[in-house]
Amino acid sequence: MAMEDLIPVVNKLQDVFSAIGQTPIDLPQIVVIGSQSSGKSSVLENVVGRDFLPRGTGIVTRRPLILQLYNTAGTMGGKRGSSGVASAAATAAAGPAGTSPTAPPTPPRKESGYTVTGRQDSGSGGLVGGRVAAFGGSSNGSVLPGGAPRTPSRTGRSGPGAGGGLSPPPSPKPPTPEREWGEFLHLPGQKFFNFAEIREEIIRETDRLTGNNKGISAKSINLRIYSPFVLNLTMVDLPGITKVATGDQPADIEEQIRGMCLQYIKNPNAIILSVTSANTDLANSDALKMAREVDPKGDRTVGVLTKIDLMDPGTDAGDMLDNRIIPLKRGFVGVINRGQKDIDDGVSIRQALQKEAAYFRDHPAYKGLDKRVGTTNLSKTLNQILMHHIRDCLPEIKSKLNVMMQSVSQELAELGEPTDCVSGASLTATLLTLLSKFASNFHAAVDGRGSSPD
Ligand code: GDP
Ligand code: NA
Ligand code: MG
Repeated sequence: MAMEDLIPVVNKLQDVFSAIGQTPIDLPQIVVIGSQSSGKSSVLENVVGRDFLPRGTGIVTRRPLILQLYNTAGTMGGKRGSSGVASAAATAAAGPAGTSPTAPPTPPRKESGYTVTGRQDSGSGGLVGGRVAAFGGSSNGSVLPGGAPRTPSRTGRSGPGAGGGLSPPPSPKPPTPEREWGEFLHLPGQKFFNFAEIREEIIRETDRLTGNNKGISAKSINLRIYSPFVLNLTMVDLPGITKVATGDQPADIEEQIRGMCLQYIKNPNAIILSVTSANTDLANSDALKMAREVDPKGDRTVGVLTKIDLMDPGTDAGDMLDNRIIPLKRGFVGVINRGQKDIDDGVSIRQALQKEAAYFRDHPAYKGLDKRVGTTNLSKTLNQILMHHIRDCLPEIKSKLNVMMQSVSQELAELGEPTDCVSGASLTATLLTLLSKFASNFHAAVDGRGSSPD
């Protein structure tokens, strides 16, 4: 089986387990570190595939942003409660800020809500996305294969797939933007459907605590994105490492930011996106140095080289990407994010991904390195790490599942036949049905027999 098939199953499993207050699997957090303005926020945004983070020259990210992605596929309108993200919430709560909300458990939803997503060709990689069918392929058909956006008119929503040369077929239906929204921990109950407003709120909330003169704070901003196109996962954007205090910054700014970063990346469950701009010397990379401190073997560090487009004419990142300068076990991926002018001109992520793909395709230095360049490949690399992690967790999930099945069927036997009214018995029966369905799909997927979801 393709490991991609596990992703929707894992999301559903999170739902079922969290309904009974358990966590089947702790998905890793993805933590982005690097020097100031190396392109961390830009990388994160490209990977998520939506415009919503403040970016720019100077110190823009001044508080950690804990971004929890909540998959709502199959929930029809996304009433989700605590489902699925039990693990994401738990990992975030385990983070240094410890401000992650713990939502109350949700009762099991209607059976239809658990429809296991059918296989979709994941085509081009993307970490989240209908952008990546593998991760969020919704069962209602609104996600086009290959991670293409549903309609070209939705500027700002696009997938790494777009960078892979896939053009989106026109959608017969108008978009339903209310299917994706953000919510801040500090503004409970307030849904942000407009991603530009999410960015404004991040800026406002940053300033609220740190003033508007470059101050920093270790207190995180917690944002949840609800979408049918994401994997239940936590991503952390961090302030960049700087050496010299400016504005309202404390004299020991470098130490403070380093401390902040270390707290997040020392979590053994963190995947470190170690960002260095390609137009600086790799040997001076703060990001690589820091990653090495907590992950000396490089098991969970992915090197990212940004600003390949800004390298001196006549130089290229070939040797660095070929892992010949500072070797990293998982290697480097070179990317091109939107430059300041692109941002000012309102270039969309999708357009930027297309430009990026064209750049690498046309540049002779990157001919043999097509697996090591581009946001699409970065997303694929991350996908792969995540899937290996999930695979490693399978034995434990299997045994948890078995225990759960046993106790539920026992309970059911004691209660007798389920009745029509809402009772313990009917709930239990529903849960049992769900579990058996899952178990068979899940085991089939794991055993490589191929599943016939739903
Ligand atoms: P951060 O401080 O590390 O989060 O960096 P940002 O994502 O805020 O980016 C800093 C500045 O660099 C912004 O003006 C971006 O537009 C620009 N930038 C980031 N990545 C690239 C890139 O790959 N190429 C170009 N030309 N500019 C980039
Ligand atoms: Na910056
Ligand atoms: Mg930033």
